[in-house]
Amino acid sequence: MHTQVGIVGAGPAGLLLSHLLHLQNIESIVIENCSRAYVERRVRAGVLEQGSVNLLMQNGLGERMQREGLQHHGIELRFDNKSHRINFDELTGGKGITVYGQQEIVIDLIAARLAAGGEILFEVDEVSLHNLEDANPYIEFQHDGEQTRISCDFIIGCDGFHGISRPSIPVESLKIFERSYPFSWLGILVEAPPSSEELIYASSPDGFALHSMRSTTVTRNYIQCSPDDVIDQWSDDKIWHELHRRLEIIDGWQLKEGKVLEKGITPMRSFVCETMQYGKLFLAGDAAHIVPPTGAKGMNLAISDVNFLSLALTEWYLDSKDQKLTNYSEDCLRRVWRGEHFSWWMTSMLHRFPEQDGFQQKLQTAELNYVCNSAAASASLAENYVGYHF
Ligand code: APR
Ligand code: PHB
Repeated sequence: MHTQVGIVGAGPAGLLLSHLLHLQNIESIVIENCSRAYVERRVRAGVLEQGSVNLLMQNGLGERMQREGLQHHGIELRFDNKSHRINFDELTGGKGITVYGQQEIVIDLIAARLAAGGEILFEVDEVSLHNLEDANPYIEFQHDGEQTRISCDFIIGCDGFHGISRPSIPVESLKIFERSYPFSWLGILVEAPPSSEELIYASSPDGFALHSMRSTTVTRNYIQCSPDDVIDQWSDDKIWHELHRRLEIIDGWQLKEGKVLEKGITPMRSFVCETMQYGKLFLAGDAAHIVPPTGAKGMNLAISDVNFLSLALTEWYLDSKDQKLTNYSEDCLRRVWRGEHFSWWMTSMLHRFPEQDGFQQKLQTAELNYVCNSAAASASLAENYVGYHF
């Protein structure tokens, strides 16, 4: 098989890139090691910045998102038995966010690629990358029990944090920056209408909690838990008990319960791989960087990377120039590090740390009070949350 751009991974990054390239008449093939049903059902993030929404709409992917996505104009912060709204509309000159599940985007992207005759090979195995420094790179893998090879001009690693693309770069060409956090997030998807119109981030004496949603009938709730916890230790009753304690810290507000549709624990990590390019291999999305979910930046950074990459590949194929390809890593990393800082800052401000003493506790509260009472500090949170692009 031959194509212009070989893409490893059918998450939002790989699929969106394939779609954007197709609109410029650039051919690609996407390979994915899971099944179509699995990637379409996997419950992940759900918040889109205005810039991500605009990009999806401008490229013909906005129809269902506009109909079913929920537009939000602020978030609520809860701490010290009080509540404060960060008003995005006022603080950012009318920008907002759209709540629309990542797997819905994946469903829309797969449908768009297949309708346009795009090639996505699901359930591939034993993927390996070759000749990355060469003019003729290729991807090898097993598909339908047969050893298969795709030769291409470029290979794009969109295969997430645990993929094979990043480890295919020699270690001496990479610099890794990382932090792990002494807690995880336990998330549940629930059949219940939202208890609030907007997302609620709560810092309670028992730890962090988040009330989010997917639609007018499905909610998504998270609590901070120990990194050593396994999901079997958490019965539904125990999860609800903690959610009520951590979110119901203001008078007269109640969390609605419902059937738990899915539950899981996600570790919290900050991670950046520099460089994002090695020879003919370019990394995008979670393959190159991870943020803790507190800032809702993961999917938006993946979308931002593939936007840069599609512009760079378009310049290469249509204008025979390589300026944007040469600058790809630097252009992405500027935004990535802004997202890394914001996500780390939100995480540090809102969670209880195991060794936290009274002094650190007072600093967190001072920071939360400042963010809520200072117009400059509120504007900074709002600007970053809706997406700060430079
Ligand atoms: N070969 C082929 N596919 C692979 C391989 C491999 N060796 N390894 C992993 N994959 C696939 C995974 O099964 C997954 O479908 O690559 C895809 C990567 O998709 P995502 O993990 O969704 O990553 P990305 O597209 O970068 O999107 C980032 O995902 O984790 C969230 O918060 C994150 O919202 C952000 C988004
Ligand atoms: C979600 O709805 O899954 C969600 C929302 C906001 C976050 C993280 C996750 O910060």
